Amino acid sequence: MSSRLKSARRIHGIDGNVWVEFTALAADPTVVNLGQGFPDISPPSYVKEGLAKAAAVDKLNQYTRGFGHPPLVDALSQVYSRVSEHKIDPNKEILVTVGAYGSLFSAIQGLIEEGDEVIIIEPFYDCYDPMVKMAGATPVSIPLRYKDNGRSTISSADWSLDSGELASKFSKRTKAIILNTPNNPMGKVYTKEELQVIADLCIKYDTLCISDEVYEWIIYPGNKHVKIATLPGMWERTVTIGSAGKTFSVTGWKLGWSIGPAHLIKHLQTVHQNCIYTCPTPLQEALAHALMKDLKRMDEPECYFSSLAQELKPKRDRMASLLQEAGLKPIIPEGGYFMVADVSVLNVDLSHMKEDEPYDYKFVKWMIKTKKLAAIPITAFCGPESKKQFEKYIRFCFIKQESTLDAAETILKNWNK
Ligand SMILES: Cc1ncc(COP(=O)(O)O)c(C=O)c1O
Repeated sequence: MSSRLKSARRIHGIDGNVWVEFTALAADPTVVNLGQGFPDISPPSYVKEGLAKAAAVDKLNQYTRGFGHPPLVDALSQVYSRVSEHKIDPNKEILVTVGAYGSLFSAIQGLIEEGDEVIIIEPFYDCYDPMVKMAGATPVSIPLRYKDNGRSTISSADWSLDSGELASKFSKRTKAIILNTPNNPMGKVYTKEELQVIADLCIKYDTLCISDEVYEWIIYPGNKHVKIATLPGMWERTVTIGSAGKTFSVTGWKLGWSIGPAHLIKHLQTVHQNCIYTCPTPLQEALAHALMKDLKRMDEPECYFSSLAQELKPKRDRMASLLQEAGLKPIIPEGGYFMVADVSVLNVDLSHMKEDEPYDYKFVKWMIKTKKLAAIPITAFCGPESKKQFEKYIRFCFIKQESTLDAAETILKNWNK
């Protein structure tokens, strides 16, 4: 093929994508899909009605301010000024993007230089690695390590960073660390003490922190979400990312935001204005109303920011017992709506399948085909060195209607028949 027809070097080696591959495999309607992280529960009615109302207003069907529709950046500023106890400037310290993906892309393109190193914690949300590579930088990965707690159940809290190992990853080449709390896929919610270790290293090495907090509201009892940007010395070096899709169970809206100091956000704005320019106006208007409604009732049990986790806790617990009954070993998440389980105990012999794939890829493909149940392999969230450590784990999504969980229950109960 003529070299003129080849791809740009910046996308070499990043053409594989777990969502493209496994969403296609799970598309068969007879498959119970606990793979991709989309809710099949109903989003709150005021959120949906807000969009219908916005779309009925002519001027809200036209372009709006590029860096964020004014009512939305105002609402985001009010919500996050309250939760972070830091007055956030709606115009200079917020950027509204196409999903959290858009924020991650703008932050990485706007702040990471060719030749930089970026620390990524494994297992990581899969797009961090290719985004860093597209910016010409090198991902430096560090895995969460498991410590046996001596109890019969395993929690995401049993997975943590080794502080010595983390320190060894920082150097003068380190431009940023990407943090994700609550973490997808493990469900780990970093404690203040754990975040302080990261913050101290960021300050010592003058490093940025890109903090992906899309599951910030989905926190189960006994845990607390702490924003690393609120630790001393961190606001000035942190971009915090959120998602409407995760906040209001409307993943199809693909609206997200970045919050941080003006001296960082202005670089994200530069990327955004030159690739997306502006996000859909009716969606932004509706999101602004939804945020304001829940901000006003933040201390009440009906507030969706806290009620979603309450609705999800029984689903989490049900998922855990279903997996346990089938013989799998689930890791109980402290936050988010995913549950990772160790499948090695089932001893499924997959030696007849493609050699060059990690065990979890083969296991999920086998499970979709023979059990009609879809999940996501965890090595999709790991760099090459950690694939061996994580290849016995797969991820289930439990933000699903009871009927979907019933169908999964039937499959898991008949597993050995
Ligand atoms: C950790 C994490 N970050 C970012 C995203 C992307 O969010 P959005 O759909 O708002 O782009 C997801 C989606 O699953 C996620 O799990």
